[in-house]
Amino acid sequence: MDCCIIGTGYVGLVTGACLADMGHSVTCVDRDAAKVAALVRGEVPIYEAELEAVVRRNLDSGGLLFTGDIRSAVAGAEFVFITVDTPSDAEGNADLTHVDEVAREIAAALDGYKVIINKSTVPVGTTKRVERIIEESMRAHHEFDVVSNPEFLREGTAVFDFSNPARIIIGSDSQKAAMRMTALYRGLDAPLLITDPASAEMIKYASNAFLATKVSYINAIADLCEAVGADVREVSLGMGYDDRIGFEFLKAGPGFGGSCFPKDCRALLNIARENGYDFNLLQGVLVVNREQQERMVAKIERAAGGLQGTRIGALGLAFKANTDDVRESPAVAIVKMLLEKGAAVTVYDPEANDNAAEELAGAEFAPDAYAAVKDADVLVLLTEWDEFKWLDYGRVLSAMKSPVVVDTRNCLDPVVLRKLGFTYEGVGR
Ligand code: UGA
Repeated sequence: MDCCIIGTGYVGLVTGACLADMGHSVTCVDRDAAKVAALVRGEVPIYEAELEAVVRRNLDSGGLLFTGDIRSAVAGAEFVFITVDTPSDAEGNADLTHVDEVAREIAAALDGYKVIINKSTVPVGTTKRVERIIEESMRAHHEFDVVSNPEFLREGTAVFDFSNPARIIIGSDSQKAAMRMTALYRGLDAPLLITDPASAEMIKYASNAFLATKVSYINAIADLCEAVGADVREVSLGMGYDDRIGFEFLKAGPGFGGSCFPKDCRALLNIARENGYDFNLLQGVLVVNREQQERMVAKIERAAGGLQGTRIGALGLAFKANTDDVRESPAVAIVKMLLEKGAAVTVYDPEANDNAAEELAGAEFAPDAYAAVKDADVLVLLTEWDEFKWLDYGRVLSAMKSPVVVDTRNCLDPVVLRKLGFTYEGVGR
């Protein structure tokens, strides 16, 4: 089936490449000519496992094309995906400028029936809004349907997640469009929920906000565990065996970050406020998340015996492992607070150093983990990259000035470290 993807950001690129891998003919459009030129050469601008291989494979087979020409890409397609960014505006609302522009461009290019699919995370009501814009901007009348089809891809495992979805959500008032969408995804083995557009849009926000709630909940429990002498990892495990709770998203840490959870929680709060509901629970989730970063700084300060003039070796900047993304990264926020409190911080991340360079202008950047901890008073582990778990901690010990480790991800073994002579502090244990 012929698909056109508008916007080759994270979601667009993964969706386009994976649809091509399923055997569909896909044309991805972007107005950034340099980006299109790089993609045509098979160069993927983001760090995402397997993505470059999938892109190259489908470029070679001819199933995946990149272009700047939206008009002909839309004209040649039966399915048109909108995957442009919806950044937060100053009030925390999703900014729909790009979605609106694309809707007008699609309208100008319509030449027959098409299913127009919104995959960007957008406020409830956007499917209808896109429908209205297209109707108003169409030159000649053509039949079309707009469908909400939210994505649930996680950065770092997006290609796997596309092929192994927990569910496929199709929000449409049109039976014809819903049936076409069902045919498009026929190769994927997952429950398919066909619902109305508003519910589909809500499912995306409600899912992300719920997962964020789980993370804040376990971080609050971690704080209590420290007070009462319990170990939050044991508590998570014991809770997770209950199928009603599950093991996922119960890892205590420095708080959630990334381009989705914080933004989507704020957007859902605004949606609630605009509809006359005070979503205090979700407000609390964001408060706990901010406080968690502050708690980590206080923990580091205690471990170091003060921060003024203290040398800190910080391992990890990405908002989680296996990505180079530092958007709303708790690691970056914590390093910033440490710098503000007068610490000298040397940072290292296997993939995210460049992305954090501007925001952390006051920090020193090291080429590897051992260089980051050289002469440090405290080693602070901020992102759970595998390579930090397998460092030679004997070597780390001799490089540091004093043997103190604060592990904000609970990913190191305190027994091993203490045996080597380190003082170890985790989270909630
Ligand atoms: C999230 C959702 O998991 C995806 O389903 C969704 O499609 C995506 O947002 C999106 O809306 O585009 P992502 O932001 O890639 O995916 O990251 P997650 O793996 O969900 O992690 C989010 C944050 O929670 C990270 O900072 C992570 O470190 C933190 N986290 C996660 C914890 O602190 N503890 C946990 O147990 C799990």
